[in-house]
Amino acid sequence: MVEVVPASVALEPAVALLEAGDLVAMPTETVYGLAGDATNGAAVARIFEAKGRPRFNPLIAHVASIAMAEEIASFDPLSRKLAEAFWPGPITIVLPLRAGSKVHPLATAGLDTVAVRMPDGFARELIGRFGRPLAAPSANRSGRISPTTAAAVADDLGDRIRLVVDGGPAPVGVESTIVKVEDGQVRILRPGGISAEEIEALIGAPVLRQTGKGTIEAPGMMTSHYAPHASVRLNAANVRPGEALLAFGPNRAAGAGKAIAVRNLSERGDLREAAANLFSYLDELDRAGAGTIAVEPVPIAGLGEAINDRLMRAAAPRDLDRT
Ligand code: TXA
Ligand code: MG
Repeated sequence: MVEVVPASVALEPAVALLEAGDLVAMPTETVYGLAGDATNGAAVARIFEAKGRPRFNPLIAHVASIAMAEEIASFDPLSRKLAEAFWPGPITIVLPLRAGSKVHPLATAGLDTVAVRMPDGFARELIGRFGRPLAAPSANRSGRISPTTAAAVADDLGDRIRLVVDGGPAPVGVESTIVKVEDGQVRILRPGGISAEEIEALIGAPVLRQTGKGTIEAPGMMTSHYAPHASVRLNAANVRPGEALLAFGPNRAAGAGKAIAVRNLSERGDLREAAANLFSYLDELDRAGAGTIAVEPVPIAGLGEAINDRLMRAAAPRDLDRT
C-alpha cells in the first residue's frame, strides 16, 4: 500500500527511495510530479510504466540550481535570462543537451534537447538533497487529470507507487509553461503557470505561440489529454439536463440551478484562483457522476491561456492514442 507522508518528515524516506531507483510522488508549485532519478534508466522506465505513458514522450528534468541545469544543458543568453527571472517557478526551458549530460536517453526520448525546470518548495529541497536531477511528469495515469493534491495522486496511482509526499494543494494548479528559444525568439510550446504577458514584460519582445498541429514540438501535447471520465462541453451559455457545471465568475449560465453539481473556478473571476482550482474541480464534478460537464467561458488573457488549453484538451474527442 502507498504511504502518504507530510512534506515536513518526508525528505529522508524520499531520498532513500530515489537512491534505490524507486519513485516518489512529490508536490511542486504547479501539480504533483512522479519523480525518479533522471540519470537512472531503470528508474525512468518505472515512471513510464506507472503512468502507462507512450515511450516517445520525453520527461522534464527537474533541477535544484542553475549550476545543476548547466551540467545537463547548454544555455543561450535569452534562456539564461528566463531562468534567472522565473526560477524557481512554473517555467520549463527546452535546451540543447550538453555533451556528457548524465540524463538518461530514455528520459529525453532520445532527443538532442532536454526540458529543464527548477521547481519551488519541497521538490527543490528534495533534488538538492538527492544531488541529481529528477525526471518527473505529472503524477497521474497517462491521459487523466493532473493531480493537485496528495489524495488525488494516491487515488490514481496508489496501487503502483510506495510514497506520496503531501505538501498540501498545489498553489499554481496548472503545469509549467514550456518555452524554447529559437533564433533569438521565445516560443511557447505549452501555455502554463507563467503567462505569455509576463515573459513579454521581461524580454521586451513578443513571444511566438505553438502553431498548427503538423509537428508536435512538445510531444506530449496530443489533442486529447487531461481527460475526466465525463465528456466536457465548452463555452456553455446554458446547462442541459443531467449536466454538471464548471462555472467562472459572478454570473451563472442559464439553467445553472438544474445542474447536478456546480463548482465555481473563481467567484470573483480571478484567473490565478481559477487555475489553482481547475483540475480538482474537474475531478470533483467527475465524481458527482455527470455524463457531461458544461464549462462556462473563461477569458483567454494571462493564465486564462493555460486554462483554456487544458479545457480544450479535456473536451477533445478521445481515442486510444491519448497520453
Ligand atoms: O509543471 C510541470 O511541468 C509538471 C511538474 C510535475 O513539474 N510536469 C509536467 O510534466 O507537466 P509532463 O511530463 O506531464 O509534461 C512535460 C511536457 C510533455 O508535453 C513533453 O512532451 C514535453 O514536456 N517535453 C519534454 N521534453 C521535451 C523536449 N526536449 N522538447 C519539447 N518538449 C518536451
Ligand atoms: Mg502530464
